[in-house]
Amino acid sequence: MNRRSAAEAYEKVPTSIFESSSAAAASLAKEVRELIEARNKEGKPAILGLATGSTPVPFYRELIRLHREEGLSFKNVITFNLDEYYGLGSDHPESYYRFMCDQLFDHIDIPKENIHLPSGTVPGDQVFEHCRQYEEMIDAAGGVDFQILGIGRTGHIGFNEPGSSRESLTRRITLDRITRQDAAADFRGEENVPRFAITMGVGTILRAKQIVLMAWGENKAGVVARAVEGPVTDAVSASFLQDHETARFFIDQAASRELTRIKLPCWWVR
Ligand code: F6R
Repeated sequence: MNRRSAAEAYEKVPTSIFESSSAAAASLAKEVRELIEARNKEGKPAILGLATGSTPVPFYRELIRLHREEGLSFKNVITFNLDEYYGLGSDHPESYYRFMCDQLFDHIDIPKENIHLPSGTVPGDQVFEHCRQYEEMIDAAGGVDFQILGIGRTGHIGFNEPGSSRESLTRRITLDRITRQDAAADFRGEENVPRFAITMGVGTILRAKQIVLMAWGENKAGVVARAVEGPVTDAVSASFLQDHETARFFIDQAASRELTRIKLPCWWVR
């Protein structure tokens, strides 16, 4: 059995392995550009679902390059981010709002009113209503055309930690210990990492028309293999993507190391 059919036999989500994260980011940015341009021609906005963290940074760099060097305009783009730390204001240096401005929004021509992130400072008794309105805004915009995802070591997409159901919607969630440990360096110590976040749910994410999950580096290899080859389970939220019609994984070589087609020699994969 060659490696391609091994991939088909074991991998339950179409998975592309790229030479590098920048090659993957360029390929993804090209698709997003085509979507934006197609929507422009139809006179409609392109609705993008965006992620934060280190993973999408090369993708955002490429979008900025396309804007600066090739004239790609974001005037007709509406964005919905996956999540925000609960307790952080938009001016906090580690808020996802700040991150998105630094990494993307401040460098392109997207109108401010087209940018949406959950609020990290909505009072506790208004969280439910805030989350309901976030869902409503996504629907009113026509739904997400293209959702970008990273994956946490817990298997989370957005901040849907283990135990999140397939039907879950935007809500406040308690962050997993591993997730808080992974964020500790950014906050100068685990004790400073917020305990809660507001995140789109798995169900919210699965409503997107197209989804690409990106993952780079060896420390994601184990969870990528569980999401791509393992059973669909709420223990690994990303495994729910197996049930989405168009979801794909874009990974680099290091993140592919635990996939059966890479791990086992060809004569074994049969
Ligand atoms: C961020 C998000 C998370 C991250 C994940 C990976 O908006 O929703 O699911 O994508 O935690 O983070 P990085 O990319 O920093 O490894």
